[in-house]
Amino acid sequence: MEKVTVKICAGTSCFVMGAAQIQALEFTPPEDIADKIELVEVRCMNLCKDTTAKYNRGPFVMVNDELIEEATFEKVVNKIREVLKNKCD
Ligand code: FES
Repeated sequence: MEKVTVKICAGTSCFVMGAAQIQALEFTPPEDIADKIELVEVRCMNLCKDTTAKYNRGPFVMVNDELIEEATFEKVVNKIREVLKNKCD
Protein backbone atom coordinates (compact mmCIF):
# COMPACT_ATOMS: atom_id res chain seq x y z
CA MET A 1 0.00 0.00 0.00
CA GLU A 2 1.27 3.42 -0.92
CA LYS A 3 2.16 5.47 2.14
CA VAL A 4 0.76 8.89 2.97
CA THR A 5 3.48 11.51 2.79
CA VAL A 6 3.54 13.96 5.67
CA LYS A 7 5.81 16.96 5.18
CA ILE A 8 6.37 18.87 8.38
CA CYS A 9 7.87 22.32 8.11
CA ALA A 10 10.98 22.51 10.26
CA GLY A 11 11.52 26.21 9.69
CA THR A 12 11.99 28.41 12.72
CA SER A 13 8.57 30.06 12.65
CA CYS A 14 6.68 26.77 12.35
CA PHE A 15 8.93 25.12 14.91
CA VAL A 16 8.26 27.85 17.46
CA MET A 17 4.54 27.68 16.77
CA GLY A 18 4.31 23.98 17.54
CA ALA A 19 5.77 21.88 14.74
CA ALA A 20 7.94 20.16 17.33
CA GLN A 21 4.86 18.48 18.83
CA ILE A 22 3.85 17.22 15.39
CA GLN A 23 7.29 15.71 14.89
CA ALA A 24 6.31 13.33 17.68
CA LEU A 25 4.60 11.38 14.88
CA GLU A 26 8.03 10.00 14.12
CA PHE A 27 8.43 8.35 17.51
CA THR A 28 4.94 7.91 18.89
CA PRO A 29 2.51 7.61 15.99
CA PRO A 30 -0.96 6.24 16.70
CA GLU A 31 -0.88 2.48 16.08
CA ASP A 32 -3.45 2.50 13.28
CA ILE A 33 -1.38 4.79 11.06
CA ALA A 34 2.17 3.97 12.17
CA ASP A 35 3.16 1.85 9.17
CA LYS A 36 1.14 3.87 6.66
CA ILE A 37 2.94 7.20 6.77
CA GLU A 38 6.20 8.56 5.51
CA LEU A 39 7.43 11.59 7.44
CA VAL A 40 9.57 14.22 5.79
CA GLU A 41 10.99 17.28 7.48
CA VAL A 42 11.22 20.17 5.07
CA ARG A 43 12.76 23.59 5.24
CA CYS A 44 10.62 26.69 5.48
CA MET A 45 7.96 26.48 2.78
CA ASN A 46 7.90 30.30 2.66
CA LEU A 47 4.21 30.29 3.56
CA CYS A 48 5.04 32.14 6.77
CA LYS A 49 6.48 34.95 4.67
CA ASP A 50 3.43 35.32 2.45
CA THR A 51 2.26 38.92 2.59
CA THR A 52 -1.00 38.41 0.71
CA ALA A 53 -2.69 36.98 3.78
CA LYS A 54 -3.54 33.96 1.68
CA TYR A 55 -2.40 31.64 4.40
CA ASN A 56 -3.21 31.57 8.07
CA ARG A 57 -0.57 30.77 10.61
CA GLY A 58 1.80 27.90 10.97
CA PRO A 59 2.80 25.41 11.74
CA PHE A 60 2.33 24.25 8.16
CA VAL A 61 2.12 20.59 7.25
CA MET A 62 1.43 18.92 3.92
CA VAL A 63 -0.43 15.63 3.98
CA ASN A 64 0.10 14.31 0.47
CA ASP A 65 -0.80 17.46 -1.44
CA GLU A 66 -3.17 18.99 1.10
CA LEU A 67 -1.94 21.89 3.19
CA ILE A 68 -2.83 22.06 6.87
CA GLU A 69 -2.50 25.47 8.47
CA GLU A 70 -2.24 26.02 12.21
CA ALA A 71 -1.45 22.34 12.33
CA THR A 72 -1.64 20.35 15.51
CA PHE A 73 -0.83 16.70 16.19
CA GLU A 74 -4.56 15.92 16.23
CA LYS A 75 -5.32 17.82 13.02
CA VAL A 76 -2.55 16.02 11.17
CA VAL A 77 -3.56 12.58 12.47
CA ASN A 78 -7.18 13.24 11.53
CA LYS A 79 -6.17 14.32 8.01
CA ILE A 80 -4.02 11.20 7.59
CA ARG A 81 -6.95 9.00 8.68
CA GLU A 82 -9.23 10.85 6.25
CA VAL A 83 -6.79 10.33 3.37
CA LEU A 84 -6.42 6.64 4.23
CA LYS A 85 -10.19 6.20 4.46
CA ASN A 86 -10.68 7.85 1.06
CA LYS A 87 -8.10 5.53 -0.45
CA CYS A 88 -10.07 2.54 0.74
CA ASP A 89 -13.48 3.77 -0.44
S1 FES B 1 8.83 28.36 8.89
FE1 FES B 1 7.30 27.07 8.14
S2 FES B 1 6.58 28.05 6.36
FE2 FES B 1 8.19 29.27 7.05
